[in-house]
Amino acid sequence: MLAGKRILLIIGGGIAAYKSLDLIRRLRAQNATVTPVITNAAKEFVTPLSVSALAGEKVYQDLFDLTDEAEMGHIELSRAADLIVVAPATADLCAKMAGGHANDLASTLLMATDKRVLIAPTMNVRMWQHPANQRNLATLQADGILTVGPNEGDMACGEFGPGRMAEPDEIVDAVTAALATGPLAGRHVLVTSGPTHEPIDPVRYIANRSSGAQGTAIAQALAALGADITFVTGPADVAPPSGVTVMPVQTAVEMAEAVKSALPADAAVFAAAVADWHVVNAAQSKIKKDAKGSLPVLKFAENPDILAQVSGMKKGRPKLVVGFAAETDNVTQNATAKRKRKKCDWIVANDVSPSTGIMGGSENAVTLITKDGSQDWPRMSKRQVADRLAGAIADALGAAGDT
Ligand code: CTP
Repeated sequence: MLAGKRILLIIGGGIAAYKSLDLIRRLRAQNATVTPVITNAAKEFVTPLSVSALAGEKVYQDLFDLTDEAEMGHIELSRAADLIVVAPATADLCAKMAGGHANDLASTLLMATDKRVLIAPTMNVRMWQHPANQRNLATLQADGILTVGPNEGDMACGEFGPGRMAEPDEIVDAVTAALATGPLAGRHVLVTSGPTHEPIDPVRYIANRSSGAQGTAIAQALAALGADITFVTGPADVAPPSGVTVMPVQTAVEMAEAVKSALPADAAVFAAAVADWHVVNAAQSKIKKDAKGSLPVLKFAENPDILAQVSGMKKGRPKLVVGFAAETDNVTQNATAKRKRKKCDWIVANDVSPSTGIMGGSENAVTLITKDGSQDWPRMSKRQVADRLAGAIADALGAAGDT
């Protein structure tokens, strides 16, 4: 599947570097060429000899190596690949990338490249959660750097939590998605997904039962058709898809901001279950029960309707805007009215009554509503709904042509 593709693999200095040896094997099994670069810290975990032997290629190590520079300069090296993969991407490498440092071969290649970069972050759970690291990650994601993982689980340091490097197979999937050629190659598609959390006080919030499963599946299916995906997600139960640009948010207002900053896009799919209201008088500290037993009174204000805002854009509107309609009664009728009201091109309507088991479940039964009428799709897995919708989006964008 990766035949003819050239991957520049930068191996950072983390214990997960041992998995990068397996990653090289798996990338080569897909017929990719892997050019390895190893940092000084990585040499504490794996040897240049083993990396080079598995890659079947010379391993690059030093910025100021005269022989290397004579054969292939670092600028050329950074551009000869189809994709740069950083695995493991340590906290230090992420910080260097976010800060634009260029003080060794790896960081210089990452600064000099004109190719896409996919990172597989890994570090101790506390380091992962540290605000400095989270800031760096947000910067990298805003710069369009693709991420895969980290996963949650037992760590080599004996702690548990997010920070384990994605498994080699997951990284290969992310590489495949990043290099996908397909009907949506070169198209940018924005997908919103998951619920939003609207704070009441620092420990309480208003949410809904959306798991993010349908939005995640749609983003994955669009990526598999070659689209470049920006995935704006509320706090979902399911992990975001690999190989896409993830913008995590909490509230509807944050989601609206993230969507604005992610545009322009060729198409936008609004699968998120956005809260309609937020609490205006959210407390800065925890609301306590008072002795008289008086109850707190929450005041609400309407959230921005992100779908309606994007559909109504006079300039730079995506060619295809797809909304969702979560309904419990008169599904087709309500969703048809919603499509007109929100001025989107398509609405994917579903019945979210508890008896359907759709919200939070693995299946979906949807009706696709367009200006030409409605089409009931049979009940199928969310993945199948996603594939079919992605195919329809590819057809519609293909028919719309380039601008
Ligand atoms: N949506 C949005 N921003 C909001 C509310 C909804 O972008 N503030 C989007 C959703 O992502 C979905 C569509 O609008 O694509 C419809 O969401 P839904 O909750 O069904 O509709 P509402 O506008 O909330 O209408 P109602 O709850 O009255 O049915």
